[in-house]
Amino acid sequence: MKEKFERIIEKNEEFLKFYNIKKRIFPVYKLLNFFPDNGKLVDLGCGNGIFPALLALKHPHMKIVGIDDDERKIQMAKELFTFNNLSFIRKNIIEMDIPEATHFSLIDVLYLIPFEHQEMLIKKISEKIDNGLLLIKEMDKKPFYKYLFNYFQEFLSVKILKRTLGGKFFFRSVEDLVSLLSRYGFKTEIIRLDKGYLYPHILLKALKQ
Ligand SMILES: C[S@@+](CC[C@H](N)C(=O)[O-])C[C@H]1O[C@@H](n2cnc3c(N)ncnc32)[C@H](O)[C@@H]1O
Repeated sequence: MKEKFERIIEKNEEFLKFYNIKKRIFPVYKLLNFFPDNGKLVDLGCGNGIFPALLALKHPHMKIVGIDDDERKIQMAKELFTFNNLSFIRKNIIEMDIPEATHFSLIDVLYLIPFEHQEMLIKKISEKIDNGLLLIKEMDKKPFYKYLFNYFQEFLSVKILKRTLGGKFFFRSVEDLVSLLSRYGFKTEIIRLDKGYLYPHILLKALKQ
């Protein structure tokens, strides 16, 4: 899977640069191990499609959909990753009707969405899930030095370099997120992914039955 993915992206200098940085700061392949291997998964805020593409390659029998409202990123994903079990849609995940799916993921997206919309989004997703998972990858607010480091990097990326759409950040504590998820029927497992990384990567694996 990794070899095939790297062969596909080697033709695209911009994606390759993004991938090489991403691999250094984030356990890309480790994250995939916590994803389901059945049904249909919709990745909300998929960016340039890195995770939907890797998942579609890893689990060819799954159906994967990536959604993002950044035209440039979605276009790049559509051009690079043309697998039968994968599709991309350009839409705003706050405004759209959430599609039917078995599982959903939000990978480094929630912190860009205002708090009241986060709650609305989780509610809408919960209404679609019947015995499935919602995987939320976020940055923890602890330990504080990692939080500060991340905040500074995000400030550079979102506000100065304008690599990601958005203007403000809406970080929640993990406890707050778990409690929000439980209000909508999810049982959440917390998985730290930041061992050996400066960023406070954290995964919330929320199951709704
Ligand atoms: C930090 S990037 C993460 C992208 C991808 N999930 C990844 O991990 O590589 C955040 C993404 O969320 C998308 N996003 C933020 N708010 C959104 C919204 N309301 N609707 C759709 N996409 C949104 C941005 O366009 C951006 O691609």
